[in-house]
Amino acid sequence: MKPLRIALTKGRLEKDTVALFEKLGMDCTAVHNKGRQLILPIGDGSIEVVLAKAADVITYVEHGVCDLGVVGKDTIMENGSRFYEVLDLGFGKCRFALAGPKGKDFYEGFSEKTVASKYPNVTRAFFESKAMDVRVIKIEGSVELAPLLGLSDAIVDIVETGSTLRENGLEVKETVADISARLIVNTASMKLRKQEIESLSAKMEEAIRKDLKVETS
Ligand code: PRP
Repeated sequence: MKPLRIALTKGRLEKDTVALFEKLGMDCTAVHNKGRQLILPIGDGSIEVVLAKAADVITYVEHGVCDLGVVGKDTIMENGSRFYEVLDLGFGKCRFALAGPKGKDFYEGFSEKTVASKYPNVTRAFFESKAMDVRVIKIEGSVELAPLLGLSDAIVDIVETGSTLRENGLEVKETVADISARLIVNTASMKLRKQEIESLSAKMEEAIRKDLKVETS
């Protein structure tokens, strides 16, 4: 049988996911010693890990070249969901927030507001839910610059510790959504390899529950 292929978001989520696999007793030496290799066997070889950028994890899972993926809810909200989202992995916690210059009321006045974001779809959906027209400008990184340069009235961005906002004279005005890492599954794989996928997902869920118990006890 072909190994199950799981696409992991490179970086912070990768570390937490590998730690979770190790809790399940899987040997992740190949991931630790990866060099520049991008497809890596883990455990007894029945699982292959593919390292990718967040949006590419979704592309690979949607196209079925990876059976499963680990990706942040932020990327899922921005890029659609033609796959199953089966498990909240509990790590990679942060939130989407509307933020703007400290002490300034974003909603005051009648002029159309401009909001910068790396997540234009999430931003549009948020303001549509308020029946409010805003101009959305897509920025690729360091979105906090947009209000500082006078390009936008506010931003919709990821806030984790809040220090980037603080250090730039910005503050959260409103939480848009809570975010954490999710396990996603290709729809065909879910049918064809149901048992293997459900067994892996159940084991992951159990390990997460155990961790939660340790944290709260
Ligand atoms: C994210 C986000 C904020 C920062 C928030 O950026 O866009 O800039 O982290 O974290 P904090 O609340 O702990 O300060 P990231 O580091 O992912 O880089 P980016 O600017 O390229 O998106």
